[in-house]
Amino acid sequence: MATSTMVPRIENLKVQNFRALKDIELKNITPLTVLLGPNGSGKSTLFDVFNFLSECFQSGLRQAWDRRGRGKELKTRGSEGPVVIELQYRERPKTPLITYHLSIDETSKGPVVAEEWLAWKRGQRGRPFRFLEYRSGAGSVISGEHPDEKDQRLEVPLRAPDLIAVNTLGQIAQHPRVAALRDFITDWYVSYLSVDSTRTQPESGPQDRLSKTGDNLPNVIQYLMESHRDQFDRIMQVLRARIPRLERIDASPMPDGRLLLQVKDAPFEQPVLSKFASDGTLKMLAYLTVLYDPTPRSSSASRSPRTFCTRGYCPSWAKNATGPPSGHSCWSPRIPRSS
Ligand SMILES: Nc1ncnc2c1ncn2[C@@H]1O[C@H](COP(=O)(O)OP(=O)(O)OP(=O)(O)O)[C@@H](O)[C@H]1O
Ligand SMILES: [Mg+2]
Repeated sequence: MATSTMVPRIENLKVQNFRALKDIELKNITPLTVLLGPNGSGKSTLFDVFNFLSECFQSGLRQAWDRRGRGKELKTRGSEGPVVIELQYRERPKTPLITYHLSIDETSKGPVVAEEWLAWKRGQRGRPFRFLEYRSGAGSVISGEHPDEKDQRLEVPLRAPDLIAVNTLGQIAQHPRVAALRDFITDWYVSYLSVDSTRTQPESGPQDRLSKTGDNLPNVIQYLMESHRDQFDRIMQVLRARIPRLERIDASPMPDGRLLLQVKDAPFEQPVLSKFASDGTLKMLAYLTVLYDPTPRSSSASRSPRTFCTRGYCPSWAKNATGPPSGHSCWSPRIPRSS
């Protein structure tokens, strides 16, 4: 996961009853976090927690739930309880820690938001209080820039029990703290990069962000070359330091309208098509476009055993890309398996 210092940062995460993750807690999550663990221990499942939440906000809970085989497949085997996701985050450094709790259960009519709340503590003293609290579409929210326990609670019913209150109320300017969380989650980028997808020849045209599979890599390179040359040069610098023979990367439009990604190695006169470039080169190039995004996303997560999780160390090119090394560390959580 990589975050810049000006976007919200998740510090702690709890997950319950989400497939292999029966009950886990990750504490003090660093901006760059590497997950290590044996096969089947739940690393990819943890990525899917983020993907699931982001899908809930983008296409709705029902679709995200159905796509994962509903409660039957999604809930931890042998477990009856709801699926729980709880994030603790700060909107910016030194701002109060906010807890977002979402618990989802299933009725005969489909998934419902069993419990959803947002809590924070104002100032150094005092206890945390919930400024948004919903159950099955009914609940209340305290609005304003700095919701206080003494402020008025507005009861705003939702249209259906499967609607997520933060997603619905976060669209209203009256609730800036809720809106900030909604924007944060909606902006997450979870990568399911496949090298074969990056080898396609898409229609020419710049695109500012890499798709989940990486099938628009040539378009993103075109965008960086045309609109953010300095950023593209930085990417090339990092790439060249890792791939000594690499000289140049080009995205050139063809007469038939397709975009051709080519890689030129120093010893040879002619570049080769991305189709014949090495897997590692294309993967690193793709991840670097995310890490060096001129308008970075609030958070990004990449599933790549070989690139991000190699024998317990952080690739230095990834560390450098996210900012000063002091703000980053590697971390190898033990994710308990479900029983
Ligand atoms: N509903 C469920 N309840 C409990 N366990 C489940 C459920 N659905 C899938 N699993 C288990 O989750 C595990 C898959 O976990 P995951 O794919 O996250 O592993 P991983 O750490 O990414 O492994 P790899 O290193 O092989 O990619 C499998 O062992 C699978 O049997
Ligand atoms: Mg996996």
